[in-house]
Amino acid sequence: MCGIVGYVGKKDAYPILINGLKRLEYRGYDSAGVAIWGPDGLNVQKCKGRVSDLEAHVSGRSMAGTTGIGHTRWATHGEPNDVNAHPHVSNKGDLALIHNGIIENYAPLKEELMSRGHVFYSDTDTEVLVHLIDDIQRTEGTDLAESVRLALGNVVGAYAIVVMDEKYPDMLVAARKSSPLVIGIGEDGDHFLASDATPIVEHTRNVVYMEDGEIAIIDREHGLRVRNIKNQETRPSIQALEIQLEALEKGGYEHFMLKEIYEQPRSIRDSMRGRLNLAQSDIVLGGIKDHEQRIVNAKRILIVACGTSWHAGMVGEYLFEEYARIPVEVEYASEFRYRNPVITEDDIVIAISQSGETADTLAAIELAKGRGATIIGICNVVGSSIARMTHAGSYTHAGPEIGVASTKAFTAQVTLLTLMALMIGRRKGTIDGAKFQQLLLELDSIPAKVEKVLKTEAQVKYIAGIYKDARNALYLGRGYSFPVALEGALKLKEISYIHAEGYPAAEMKHGPIALIDEEMPVFVIATQGASYEKVVSNIQEVKARKGKVIAIVTEGDTIVKEIADHTIEIPASPDAFVPLLAVVPLQLLSYHVAVMRGCNVDQPRNLAKSVTVE
Ligand code: F6R
Repeated sequence: MCGIVGYVGKKDAYPILINGLKRLEYRGYDSAGVAIWGPDGLNVQKCKGRVSDLEAHVSGRSMAGTTGIGHTRWATHGEPNDVNAHPHVSNKGDLALIHNGIIENYAPLKEELMSRGHVFYSDTDTEVLVHLIDDIQRTEGTDLAESVRLALGNVVGAYAIVVMDEKYPDMLVAARKSSPLVIGIGEDGDHFLASDATPIVEHTRNVVYMEDGEIAIIDREHGLRVRNIKNQETRPSIQALEIQLEALEKGGYEHFMLKEIYEQPRSIRDSMRGRLNLAQSDIVLGGIKDHEQRIVNAKRILIVACGTSWHAGMVGEYLFEEYARIPVEVEYASEFRYRNPVITEDDIVIAISQSGETADTLAAIELAKGRGATIIGICNVVGSSIARMTHAGSYTHAGPEIGVASTKAFTAQVTLLTLMALMIGRRKGTIDGAKFQQLLLELDSIPAKVEKVLKTEAQVKYIAGIYKDARNALYLGRGYSFPVALEGALKLKEISYIHAEGYPAAEMKHGPIALIDEEMPVFVIATQGASYEKVVSNIQEVKARKGKVIAIVTEGDTIVKEIADHTIEIPASPDAFVPLLAVVPLQLLSYHVAVMRGCNVDQPRNLAKSVTVE
């Protein structure tokens, strides 16, 4: 989704802004722009396309100046083109503004402003903001920060904005509501602004996460000042960033996605570190310790999430029901928030989100919180909105995930859900001590087993070469492997644009079987465990209709090998931990198919890394 960068200081702003925009490319975007306070006033440059297109567009022009803003736009209102790109400017060209989010009441505001003589050029909702601030400045005679505050009082929607005004050189005014903004405080009066910490980390580790309703005024003379919605000055709380710069680079891999797939042994291990204690046969999750008993006593758990995180939530459902004997409902956050769900104070709501900024998940949390439920977060991004909005939670320690298709975040989420379910089961007494210790040993061995699964890459690549031109694909699994089938199908469709569907294997005969012919690849998770024989029968059904079967099997399997067209072996493990292993070849397969089809693996078309609009 849209990205924001800003800089105030003594250095040249342009290279800092362009570098920052490149760091934000992973979020997904379709146009880019910058505004710099230069010797001739505001210098605004923008165009459709990549940040490199913007660089080409400005080449040969002077981009001098030490204060500036930059933006990558992911179109919502109005197609991607030069005019709709941000920054947007006032009619006199003295104000420039960038915005993430959506202004829901832009239409009546625009009508009102047009009747007052404002001329609009773009189709965006954003442009009303700059006109509104300009209008207030002129009619009320207020300064920039106060005009921004008054303007936002008229706005319905979500926003993170940064504004520059020719009358206030070397000043940026920023504000947020439901869309994140981070301020970096560097040395020698340097200040940085960004929609997430990735553009800031190479400059400073001291950051302030803006809160909803806050307005930040950053200028050369006074540094950073923050005001709340009531216009009272507040003291910003400075935190230390823990992200390492190397985590934001490809480290020799061709794509971030491949690097992140290969990071999984480490990220799963990191998500267990300090939590899984084999010696004492215990699991300790410090972040939810104070709420442990509430979870143990819960009559019901609701899991809310979107996309891949929702698939992790489904694995969580099987885990909590099997090991903690607590009924679980897994909800798409977008559906949950709009259907007046029954929520009581006894409910535990687990919100799962890699980015911690997904608008629908945030809204679902707000709703459940308002009705008294206890909200537990599972987030990857430290300091993100969801992490801060929940009552308690545990971070997945996957590290920054830059590839748009989620890989290591999924396995880290499943790891945490596994730890939670086992811990609650043990506290509740639904798992006995001996079984618990055995499960801990198995879980502890997962990172090494993932290493082994990664060694199947050459074989997976070969299979990808055979099916890369397929137009459709089916993914089948049962029990714990059903969510893996869904996740495998999502990975294929989002990065290679092949239509793919995941199904519970037994559901196939209730409809999808009609699709099967000799052209159809069917990916089946057929590991040995509770439903192995049933899945073997499902494979027979596919083969009887001449479908092509690619099966993920347990090492040493002979039965499926006889019938399937291809098999990929993964190490034996209890059913509950199979998702952590079986998903890996499916990630690799999607990756190689996408590369072979010439697709943009890390930034697939139309997709955004963090979906901050509903
Ligand atoms: C798929 C993918 C998305 C996200 C979804 C939720 O690869 O990345 O489906 O899982 O948009 O995002 P988070 O987890 O950030 O809330």
